[in-house]
Amino acid sequence: MLRNLSIRDFRCFTRFELEFDPEITCIVGANALGKTSLLEAVVVLTRLQSPRTNSLAPVIRTGAKGLVVDGMVDDRHMQFYYSPKRRKLALDSVEQKDAHDYLQVARLVFFANTDIDLVRGTGEERRRFLDFLGSQFFRDYRSILRSYDKALRSRNAYLKMMPPRPREVAAYTKPLIDFGKQLTELRGSLVERLEPKAIEAFKLIGERDEEFGLEYHAGSTADFGAALAASAEEEARLRITLVGPHRDDLLLQLSRQSAAIYASEGQQRTIAIALKVGHARLLESEFGQSPLLLLDDVFGELDVGRRNRLFANLPTGGQRIITTTSLAWLNDVPTGKLYEIKDDSARGRVLDAISRG
Ligand SMILES: Nc1ncnc2c1ncn2[C@@H]1O[C@H](COP(=O)(O)OP(=O)(O)OP(=O)(O)O)[C@@H](O)[C@H]1O
Ligand SMILES: [Mg+2]
Repeated sequence: MLRNLSIRDFRCFTRFELEFDPEITCIVGANALGKTSLLEAVVVLTRLQSPRTNSLAPVIRTGAKGLVVDGMVDDRHMQFYYSPKRRKLALDSVEQKDAHDYLQVARLVFFANTDIDLVRGTGEERRRFLDFLGSQFFRDYRSILRSYDKALRSRNAYLKMMPPRPREVAAYTKPLIDFGKQLTELRGSLVERLEPKAIEAFKLIGERDEEFGLEYHAGSTADFGAALAASAEEEARLRITLVGPHRDDLLLQLSRQSAAIYASEGQQRTIAIALKVGHARLLESEFGQSPLLLLDDVFGELDVGRRNRLFANLPTGGQRIITTTSLAWLNDVPTGKLYEIKDDSARGRVLDAISRG
């Protein structure tokens, strides 16, 4: 359970502190007051990455050098400082050389109102989803992914050089293949485990009994080395690595058709939510504990039936932090802390506890 959060120079916040309810915390506020940023800060604190961007640089408050996030998860004290030049993390005030132990402390699922992009957007959105889940599920996932990305970036940089540098390119081919194969294996087994959970969630939240399916689509044929060799000529011409896990995708289908093209907007939203609920259920069944659920303004987009079914089908026993622009539907929410975020001309952004009724 996340007890509190304290941030510095994070997005629009110079300094900000917040205490959470063990069950449900609701944060109400108008647009652009920092609701998404607060949930993002919880992700950065616990997972050392943002659900919104690949790099943390844009998260630092404009004009500041670096950001700080600090909080207690159960009785563990987590602290993270990030600047483009230096990053530092500490667990219970002991500086950590690597992130392994730090990342074992908390697992979470981030539901965003932009989740529909998982269905409609490019493969990059779906890879980001898989990677966020994978790095919480497998202990080695994050380091394998990083090693693969590093080899890929170096290899592409040498492919772009003029005149060509085939020897340097070849030097990065081996780590690319080694880490690429490991990544493909992990992603494949992840999707296999996610599939039944997501399908079950879709059935519970959706209106009708359409058939939803998901499948891992690897960005290379089974023999990655052979696929690379086969693409060598085209690769030399286009000067970029053409096959491999950076081209992986997750195929989403409704009634055996591409969900991006065939599904209605409501169905696309339901699929996106089913993927996130599946994400939560998979972590819950693997680790015997519900992950922390962050729900950023998602309920407003759903009709009352779907909203209630979503709420009823979230893993129970897990802590929830919910943001919303409107109070209208909040009577549905049973207990917990309720805050309103305001922009006060004298004090800046402030949080007021509000009572129900
Ligand atoms: N690096 C940054 N430095 C300073 N301000 C930033 C930075 N990044 C974003 N902002 C600003 O932070 C503010 C809060 O953004 P955020 O997305 O958290 O708002 P929100 O409450 O979720 O709004 P909405 O209801 O529209 O989703 C915005 O005004 C945004 O422009
Ligand atoms: Mg927002």
